[in-house]
Amino acid sequence: MNLRSAQWYAGQDRNAYIHRAWMRRGVPGEAFDGRPQIAIANTASDLTPCNAHLTEVAASVRNGVYEAGGIPLELPVVSLGETQVRPTAMLWRNMAAMATEEMLRANPIDGVVLLGGCDKTIPSLLMAAASVDLPAVVVPGGPMLTGTFRGAPLGCGTDVWKLSEEVRAGSLTQEDFTRSESSMIRSRGHCNTMGTASTMALVAEALGTVVPGVAGTPAPDSRLLEAAHDTGRLAVEMVSADRRPGGFLNKASFHNAIVALAAIGGSTNAVVHLLAIAGRLGVELSLDDFDRIGSRVPVLVDLQPAGRFLMDDFHRAGGLLAVLREVRDLLDENALTVTGKPLVDYLDDAPIWDPEVIRIRSAPLVPEGGIAVLRGNLAPDGAVIKPAAASPHLLRHRGRALVFDSIEDFHARIDDPDLDVDADSVLVLRGCGPKGYPGMPEVSNMPLPKKLLAQGVRDMVRVCDGRMSGTAYGTVVLHVAPEAAAGGPLALLRTGDIVSLDVGARRIDAEVPAEEWEARTPDEATVTAYASPRRGWERLYVDHVLQADTGADLDFLVGSSGSEVSRESH
Ligand code: FES
Ligand code: MG
Repeated sequence: MNLRSAQWYAGQDRNAYIHRAWMRRGVPGEAFDGRPQIAIANTASDLTPCNAHLTEVAASVRNGVYEAGGIPLELPVVSLGETQVRPTAMLWRNMAAMATEEMLRANPIDGVVLLGGCDKTIPSLLMAAASVDLPAVVVPGGPMLTGTFRGAPLGCGTDVWKLSEEVRAGSLTQEDFTRSESSMIRSRGHCNTMGTASTMALVAEALGTVVPGVAGTPAPDSRLLEAAHDTGRLAVEMVSADRRPGGFLNKASFHNAIVALAAIGGSTNAVVHLLAIAGRLGVELSLDDFDRIGSRVPVLVDLQPAGRFLMDDFHRAGGLLAVLREVRDLLDENALTVTGKPLVDYLDDAPIWDPEVIRIRSAPLVPEGGIAVLRGNLAPDGAVIKPAAASPHLLRHRGRALVFDSIEDFHARIDDPDLDVDADSVLVLRGCGPKGYPGMPEVSNMPLPKKLLAQGVRDMVRVCDGRMSGTAYGTVVLHVAPEAAAGGPLALLRTGDIVSLDVGARRIDAEVPAEEWEARTPDEATVTAYASPRRGWERLYVDHVLQADTGADLDFLVGSSGSEVSRESH
């Protein structure tokens, strides 16, 4: 076999000597004799607490790689802690993807095991792997165990929103709210709701990039380490078989990922991430594919934020494969996985062990799940809404817009007792797209005005060019494209305009006469709220980021450069 790493290690010249000599440090002498060099791209970091345990997972991957005759090489890569990183982890997703891509390409490796967990880490790793196109397989770090508070389970994220609304509404004391803090994060692992981390792990498996059956294994579960060991072995096999992302990921894989996303009731963030990954692979995937393929798929998983349970329950109930077995007829049976076998081959023996958590097809949690893609004069290039997380009575709604130009503007005014707002108002937040903030933060699920909460209002129509946390819920129209800061018409909306939402008709419009609408220009306050970074990554990002409807990647990162490096190291 002609290994890529042989370009560094083979031969007797001075360069090969240098490459080998510096890498020896105790590895067996035959390490450079044509044994596959397997990188373990590790996003473990103390500042990404959801991924901190991945170094232990990496140790199991190592064992598997050695066992199969490969050489494991741990490669720490840029890691993003969703709850810590400012101004939003999404600003750094493309940077992490670019840095990982370049380090995979620059180094003498033949394949890679990708260790991720927290929201942006699996997407950035997959974007990188797609662009380098070396054999690659993901081990998702897995969710935390269920925490409990006052005798009831606590779901990460979702219950933070719920409890904080309770404090705002006066039904929970500040002391009890603080007390719940230490109960929520019970173990290692990522958020245990069907938020973005859980969603991306499961979607990565549906896509074919995880060994089927592994995603969703809780982080402290011994079976995760067993799976990591097996995956290490598989990575070596993938190099022998030359099984690369560009070879087995295609439109059929994304079709299955979209069906899975809908059936699990997954995070809206997956839309942006899947579009970005597809863009790296050159797979023609559009926003409309999400609506066309996913919007009529039933939600079968009763997990927070849409439902009741948490990831530990989901795994116990049979996990992703049990879900996919229920919707097998909707899957593309040609789509292959990292193992070389089709995804559907893993569904014969995938029972549901708890039909409360994973519903059978005929008794879904929501009959039609997925993502609805809206268009209209407010979102000519599209916007998304997750109807399963919305209030049915608001899916068709007209109301007066109350417009905010930044999240700070929103916080400054929303609880003003004199604010002219009622339950029918439509809260609009703009300047929160990829360019405007920058980085497309999770702000779309704006908290409701205190005075309306006190009246018992629990949901309102909200419209935003940003994203929302996968653990959030509500009637939220998000990812409006183009964003206000990229010349999108959302910038033209004024407080008091009537906004009409009709999810059935897939429309989001401002009811302003066309002539007047076209004659409008954005106010100065609107424009000055947009980010205008001077230097560094933010400058590069704002100059090159694409809009949400194509995945918010950087224009020059779309596509693949492959694994070729033409020049020797000097
Ligand atoms: Fe890391 Fe939720 S904060 S997965
Ligand atoms: Mg998040």
